[in-house]
Amino acid sequence: MDKIRIIGGNRLNGVIPISGAKNAALPLMIASLLTDETLTLENVPRLADVRQLTNILVNHGVDYGVNGKRIGEDLLTGQTISLTARSITDTTAPYELVSTMRASFWVIGPLLARMHACKVSLPGGCAIGTRPVDLFLMGLERLGAQLDVEGGYVVAKAPGGLVGNRVVFPKVSVGATHVIMMAATLAKGQTVIENAAREPEIVDLAKCLIAMGAHIQGAGTSTITIDGVDRLRGARHRVVADRIETGTYAMAVAMTGGDVLLEGAEGSLLENPLDVLRQVGAEITETNSGIRVRRNGHGIVAADVTTDPFPGFPTDLQAQFMALMTRAKGTSHITETIFENRFMHVAELARFGARISLSGQVATVEGVESLKGAPVMATDLRASVSLVIAGLAAEGETTVNRVYHLDRGFERLEEKISRCGADISRISG
Ligand code: EPZ
Repeated sequence: MDKIRIIGGNRLNGVIPISGAKNAALPLMIASLLTDETLTLENVPRLADVRQLTNILVNHGVDYGVNGKRIGEDLLTGQTISLTARSITDTTAPYELVSTMRASFWVIGPLLARMHACKVSLPGGCAIGTRPVDLFLMGLERLGAQLDVEGGYVVAKAPGGLVGNRVVFPKVSVGATHVIMMAATLAKGQTVIENAAREPEIVDLAKCLIAMGAHIQGAGTSTITIDGVDRLRGARHRVVADRIETGTYAMAVAMTGGDVLLEGAEGSLLENPLDVLRQVGAEITETNSGIRVRRNGHGIVAADVTTDPFPGFPTDLQAQFMALMTRAKGTSHITETIFENRFMHVAELARFGARISLSGQVATVEGVESLKGAPVMATDLRASVSLVIAGLAAEGETTVNRVYHLDRGFERLEEKISRCGADISRISG
C-alpha cells in the first residue's frame, strides 16, 4: 500500500489549481441515468470515487467515454467525460459495488424515476457514523414508491411512475435532497422539498438538471420546487470548484505560512470557513483567478467552530481545522454536529504531540508550540488530509499510511503541494 512521506517545516508558495468538486461530480454522474441522451461533464476530478462510480454506472448499462488531453492541458486539468444511458440494462445495484461507496446508493432516485422499479443494496455504516437512509426512503414513499427491504436490498417499485408530493425532511440531508430532486424531475406533477440541503453541490446538480430540461426552482434555498416533465435530454455541464479542497489547502497555507493562489477557487462557496481563517490570522483575498491565502510572520490564534449544514462550517473541513488549531495560540473548541463519530483523527493528531481532549461531540484543542513528525494513519479521507496538514508543519519526518483514503477525494495532492515547496512524496508499496 502506498504511503505519503513528508518532511515538515517548509512554507507553501505558488499556485494550486483547484479541481472540480467530488461531491458535485458524483450526483451529476448519477443524473445521467435520467436520460437516454448523452450527458457530458467537464472539469471532473480524477479520483478513485469517480472511477468506482463509473464502474457502477457501466453495470447499469451506461456507455462511458473520456476525452483525450487537449493542448495546454496537463493532468491537473479536470477531465471531460460523457455518459450515455441509452438503455438501462440492469436495475440492480449490487452489494459488492454499493458497499464501497455510500453515494452509489443515490442511483435509487433516477432508476426508480425512469424505470419504475429497481433493487439497490443498502450502503451500510461507515467509519464516520451509522449514516442511515430513512430520509431517502421516506421521501421516495411520499412520491408514491412502494419499498421493501429484503436481504439487505431496498426493492423499490412505482408502477405507473412516481407522483409529485410535498416532502418535508425532519433533518437536512445532502444525499436525500439530491435523490428526491432527481426523482421528482420525472414524476407526474409538482414536488416541493422542504428543509432541503442548501449546499453548492445541490445548486450545481439543479443547474445541470435544468440544462437537461428539468423544471426546478429554489435550489440553494431550503424549499425546492420541481415540476415533473415526461423526459429529460442530454446536456453539457461544468462541475463546480471543490470548496472542500479549497478550504483544505487554505488551512495548509495558514498552518505552514507562505503565499498561495488557489486557482479557480470560488469564495462564495465557502464564506464561513474563509471568515474563520481570517479570524485566526490568515490573510485571504479573492481575485479574478481564485483565492489568495497568505500568512507571514505572526502565528495563528485559536477560534471555536461548530459544524453545520451549508452555509455553516462544513463537517468536511472539521478535521483539517483541528490540525490547524493544534499549533494555535490558545484553546479552541470544535463541535461536530453532523456525524456522531467524526473524531478519529484526534488520536492520530496526538501522535504529533497535539493536546486534544474529547467530551461527546466537542473536542478541546490546546495549541502547542511545535509538532513532531510521526507515522500516522486515518480511516476517512478528510481525517487523512488533516494528518498531511499536521505533517507539513511538524518537525522531521511524517509518514501517512492508508493513502487510498486520500486518493478517493484529493486529486494529485502530493504533486499539487510539492510544486509549492513542500517536501512531500509518495512511496509506492
Ligand atoms: C454528503 O454526505 C457528503 N457526501 C459528505 O461528504 C458530507 O460530509 C455530508 O454530505 C455532509 O455535508 C457526498 O456528497 C458524496 P447527509 P451525505 O445525508 O449526503 C443523517 C466527504 O468527506 N442522515 O447530509 O451522506 C446522517 O447520518 C463526505 O466527502 C439520516 O439520519 O450526508 C448525518 O448525520 C463524507 N438519515 C446527517 O443526516 C438519512 O436518510 C447528514 O448527512 C440520511 C442522512
